[in-house]
Amino acid sequence: MAARGAQARIARRVGRGVVAAALAGCGGAVGARGPAVRFPEGFLWGTATAGFQVEMGCPTLERDQCEDRGSDWYAFATSPQTIASPTAHLSGDPPTSGPGQWELYAEDFARASRELSNDAYRMSLEWSRIFPEPTDGAATTDELRALASPAALAGYHAMLGELRAQGLRPMVTLDHYTLPSWIHDAVGCHLDFASCERRGWVDRERIVREIAKYAGFAAAEFGAEVDVWATLNEPLAVFYPGYLYPSEERSNPPAVLLQTEAAKTAIFSMIDAHARMYDAVRAADLVDADGDGEAASIGLVYNLSPVYPKNADRPGDVLAAKNVRYLYDEVFLRAVALGELDDDLDGDAEVRSDLVGRMDWLGVNFYNRIFVEQFLLPGLAILPGLSPLTTFNPLTLEYDRDYARGLYESLTFAWQRFGRPIYVTENGSPPIQGYPEQDRFLIENLAWIQRALADGVDVRGYFYWSLIDNYEWNQGMGTPFGLYAVDPSDPTKRRVARPAAAVYADVAQRNGISGALMSRFPIDPRS
Ligand code: FCB
Repeated sequence: MAARGAQARIARRVGRGVVAAALAGCGGAVGARGPAVRFPEGFLWGTATAGFQVEMGCPTLERDQCEDRGSDWYAFATSPQTIASPTAHLSGDPPTSGPGQWELYAEDFARASRELSNDAYRMSLEWSRIFPEPTDGAATTDELRALASPAALAGYHAMLGELRAQGLRPMVTLDHYTLPSWIHDAVGCHLDFASCERRGWVDRERIVREIAKYAGFAAAEFGAEVDVWATLNEPLAVFYPGYLYPSEERSNPPAVLLQTEAAKTAIFSMIDAHARMYDAVRAADLVDADGDGEAASIGLVYNLSPVYPKNADRPGDVLAAKNVRYLYDEVFLRAVALGELDDDLDGDAEVRSDLVGRMDWLGVNFYNRIFVEQFLLPGLAILPGLSPLTTFNPLTLEYDRDYARGLYESLTFAWQRFGRPIYVTENGSPPIQGYPEQDRFLIENLAWIQRALADGVDVRGYFYWSLIDNYEWNQGMGTPFGLYAVDPSDPTKRRVARPAAAVYADVAQRNGISGALMSRFPIDPRS
């Protein structure tokens, strides 16, 4: 994407400055000292959301107009059998207790634009909402259109039109975890993995074919409104809690334990899916929506957590950390970014020509670093394909959520290794115990992005997770990440700004971090 015109940007900022200043005033964030740290002209400021997490829970719309019950996640999160299953780790909250953005999108986007001074917004389309029925028989765009839900298409067009009207550039994720139930039987596969039908990512040929059709259809349908596409969100968070180790931290359907062959198949299905979705979007989105000369810029969103050994003096832990880094950060990204596929996970990769050149940018999601310990039972190495390497013990994995430097480490790793422009597509902290304060987290992470930029890393924008409190997957409504709080029991789903909203507004409005904010959250990003 080309940088937005400097003049328009400055004019917009001046216009919105009043709101940002009013919001920031209470925290003393707007200082006379001017920005201590500036970001490059054209750097995008946004927030990120995902359809399943924000759409449902509308205050006044009829249920059928608001809810999408057609996804594997909907079935997984609402079935009494999975809710009762200890290995599904579900909160029991229904997705219909969400913030109702399907209805309240216009006021949300107005907040992002006017109150936060943002100029971009990351959202996702729900595949199951668009295609409630199987698409297997359809081949052409017209045949697919005949199967698509007119209400879903109209709803997404309305959202995208509103984003444009509010001056927010859309980044659209085509698949943010959820799959239609017609391709993945989440409940059946959770209860009886060996004999379930409709196995989602494990039915490699079918899912790659159908998701590519869906991606191509979406690109044809919405291409005049969208230029920046993400194929998949966090493949690691699909295969690890889906097929290896579901936990309270995160589970994902089918949430089965140590299904190593299925996990490997899921990884390779998602690699193929990304490449075929890329091709489908490239072929179908021929309209340059924002006039920057490029009709489609297509990337993938990946979560990076720097991996450290729990005990740096214990060779087994050091080896475990090295292997986890390889398995989690390299295998997938090498394939999608460079076309180098390690299909038996032995450390050697071969170039597969149909994977090469299919990533225009990389989305980095950053939340924490992890500490790992060797697996004391090597026979149970999580992915036997890695033999003779060992992997880590999932029972003793530790998260460090207060390590902003990890974002710098992730960005420099991704840039040096894969050399693609980067967006920070998610980064955030909920205002609850065990997590760093939202505003401090935000400023520290931004300061580390600044250092990465200074070191030459090509970071193009930042999307805070999230604009509003939403349905945090298996944790339900109990882990609220929003810059705006939404009380799930309030039938109006009113949004209430948290203090970090004013801080973010101040940063976006001045395209930098003020001296006042830098001194309020003193850190030394050079450390
Ligand atoms: C990421 C997901 C996103 C949200 C945040 C908190 O792993 O991509 O949907 O749940 O975590």
